[in-house]
Amino acid sequence: MQVESLDIRNLSEAQAREIAELLVRVWPKSTKTIEIRQRQLLELGLGYEGLEERAPRSFYIREDGELIAHSAVISRSIRTASGELAIAGLTRVCTAPEQRGRGLGEIIVRPVFDLVDAGLFSFSLFQTTDNVRGFYEKLGACIVRNPIVNSLSNSPGESPFWDPVIMRYPSGGSWPSGEIDLCGPGY
Ligand SMILES: CC(C)(COP(=O)(O)OP(=O)(O)OC[C@H]1O[C@@H](n2cnc3c(N)ncnc32)[C@H](O)[C@@H]1OP(=O)(O)O)[C@@H](O)C(=O)NCCC(=O)NCCS
Repeated sequence: MQVESLDIRNLSEAQAREIAELLVRVWPKSTKTIEIRQRQLLELGLGYEGLEERAPRSFYIREDGELIAHSAVISRSIRTASGELAIAGLTRVCTAPEQRGRGLGEIIVRPVFDLVDAGLFSFSLFQTTDNVRGFYEKLGACIVRNPIVNSLSNSPGESPFWDPVIMRYPSGGSWPSGEIDLCGPGY
């Protein structure tokens, strides 16, 4: 199964729409139309000024012309008690509902974790739910219990994530204790 990848800064409107259509199928919400999802995807790449190797990317699998799995990575420098850490923000991970259980989820997340294994990021950090936690644990991630804040927001003490479970990859390594400042919104 071939994973294709695009720099999110270069996503066309049509490419962003195709991904947005899958996201809307996976997470149907009246407030998140295809157009809103499409816009949010394009915005993920705006203003990125870091290293090229850490630029925001979208990974996807296509079969018979149809997009059936997707993930994205954004770069963040987070503040921790032990200093700044470059993290790979994993987001928009999904497999089309009728394609689950074929190993596509693993195939689509692996390229993001590979960036960490290659040393481009110290860790991947992401939000998820209790239902999906086991999926990420199989891939070598574990739960993070640090308080998470965003000092750049209007309510800096609140967690910028909205899902209840926060995880990191890999589960080993020296992960700091104490508060983590995401220095930006949740993703
Ligand atoms: C989570 C999701 C991406 C998994 O996709 P998938 O293509 O079905 O996953 P895979 O087939 O690659 O599964 C890989 C392994 O994880 C296991 N797994 C899959 N979903 C799991 C879950 N929810 N809980 C525990 N284990 C899970 C599989 O059994 C498989 O294990 P195996 O290697 O021992 O056989 C998919 O269910 C999905 O899109 N869910 C809705 C969107 C979502 O919640 N995304 C995550 C946002 S953080």
